[in-house]
Amino acid sequence: PDGDIGVTGLATMGANLARNLARHDCRVVVHNRTRARTDALVAAYGDEGAFVPTGSVAEFVAALARPRKVVVMVQAGAPTDAVVEEVALLLEAGDVLVDGGNARYTDTIRRTRALAERGVHFVGCGISGGEEGALLGPSIMPGGSDEAYAIVGPLLESIAAVVDGTPCCAHVGTDGAGHFVKMVHNGIEYADMQLIAEAYDLLRARLGLSPAEIGEVFAGWNAGDLESYLVEITAEVLRHVDAATGRPFVDVVLDEAEQKGTGRWTVHSALDLGVPVSGIAEAVFARALSGHTAQREAARAVLPGPAEDPAPVADRDAFVEAVRRALYASKVVAYAQGFDQIAAGAREHGWDIDLGALATIWRGGCIIRARFLDRIRQAYADEPDLTTLLTHGYFRDAVADCLEGWRTVVVEAARAGIPAPGFATALAYYDGLRAERLPAALVQGLRDLFGAHTYRRVDREGVFHTVWSEDRREVQAG
Ligand code: 6PG
Repeated sequence: PDGDIGVTGLATMGANLARNLARHDCRVVVHNRTRARTDALVAAYGDEGAFVPTGSVAEFVAALARPRKVVVMVQAGAPTDAVVEEVALLLEAGDVLVDGGNARYTDTIRRTRALAERGVHFVGCGISGGEEGALLGPSIMPGGSDEAYAIVGPLLESIAAVVDGTPCCAHVGTDGAGHFVKMVHNGIEYADMQLIAEAYDLLRARLGLSPAEIGEVFAGWNAGDLESYLVEITAEVLRHVDAATGRPFVDVVLDEAEQKGTGRWTVHSALDLGVPVSGIAEAVFARALSGHTAQREAARAVLPGPAEDPAPVADRDAFVEAVRRALYASKVVAYAQGFDQIAAGAREHGWDIDLGALATIWRGGCIIRARFLDRIRQAYADEPDLTTLLTHGYFRDAVADCLEGWRTVVVEAARAGIPAPGFATALAYYDGLRAERLPAALVQGLRDLFGAHTYRRVDREGVFHTVWSEDRREVQAG
C-alpha cells in the first residue's frame, strides 16, 4: 500500500481537504459511507492529484502506507464516534487518526484515551476556514502527542494557509487542546459577528443608511485597523441584492440566527472555568433571543420604547467613526476574554498552549483572521506572561483612543432603544476591570448576612463573619 493519507467523510469540508492534500503531492486515499460521493469527487477533481478511491473501510485502511494517517471529516458527536470506532478497529499501534471535525474537546480527551490503549495516536484537530479554507489553506489547530504530531504535522503544515512565510498550523497541545482552542475560536467568531451586526444596526437605525451604503462603510473600515475577513464579507453581504425581489438581501432573510453548538460550548466551559467571556456569552444569547419569535411578537405588541424619539444625529461622520471605535474596542475585549479562557483551560487541563503561537496561526485561513491578530502575536512576544491583552501597551492605547466614541455609542443605543448587548457588555467589562472598588463587597456582605458565607477584610488577614442576628459583633471564621 502506498497511500500517504486517507480522508473519510467527503462532504464539502472533507472533499476540499482531500483535494488540498492531493494538490500538495499527497497520494490521498478517499472514502465515504456512500460510494457515489467518492466516485463523484474523483470524477470531478481526479486530475488535480493522486486519489485512491475506496469502497469499504477495510479497503480504505488497507490502501494506506504505515504508519497510517487517517483524517475523519464527519459530523461531531455520534457520527464521529461511529466512524472513529470502525476505522480504529483496523488500525495498528503507531498509526494516527485525525478528527478534523468540530468535536467537543471533552469527547476528544475521551477518544484519545480509548485509542491510546491500543497504541493508536488520536489527533483532535480544529480546522477553520470554511469550504474555501479547506481547499486553499485553512488554519489548523492539531492537539495530540508529540509522536503523533511528528507523523502528521508536516502534512498538515503543508496544506495550511501561509502568512509571512509561516504556516497557519502549529501543535497546540496534547489531547483536547486543539479542539478546545477551535471551540474558543468559534466563540470569538460569534462575538465578532454580533458586534458587526450591532454596528450595522446602529448605522441603519440612527443614520438611516441603506444596507448598500453601510456595505461601503464596512469596505472602508476594512482598509484600516479593522481589516479582517468578517468585516470584508460583511461589506459583500450588505451590498447584495435579492434577485427575486430586488430588495436588499439582509431584508429578505429571517432575523433568527441559528447555531450548531460551538459558541454555546465555549460559554459552558467558561462558566466552569470561572472566566467572564461576557462578549461571547452575549453573542450566544443574542442569537437565542432572535429565535424566540413568540416572545418577540408578544413584547413588540405591548412593551414601550423610549418616551421620545431620539434627536437626529447631528454629525453623521462623527457617529460613523464612533461606531467604528465601539466595534474595535469591543472586539479587543472579546479577544482578550477568549485568550483568557484559553489560558485558563490550559491550566485546568495541563496543556502547554503558547498564546502567541496561537495568534500566529489565526492570522490566516480561519474565519476570525484579521490584521489585528498580528498585534496579538506581537503582544505575547513582548510580554509572554501578559495577564490580559487589554493592558498591553498597544491595545491599552488603541482602546483608550476608542473610549469616548465607544461610550457615546452605548449611550446613544440605550437612549434610542436599540439593543447593543455586545458593545454594552464589553464596555461594562472594561470598566469593571479598571474599577478601583467593585460592589462585590456588598455582595459579600449580603452573602454573609443571609447565609454566614463569610468575607475577607481590606485591612486584616483572615476570614470573618458578622453575627447579624445578634449584636453584630465580628468573629473570626474557620
Ligand atoms: C470555521 C467555522 C466553522 C463553522 C461555524 C458555524 O471556523 O470554519 O467556525 O467551524 O462554519 O462553526 O457555526 P454556527 O453554525 O454555530 O454558527
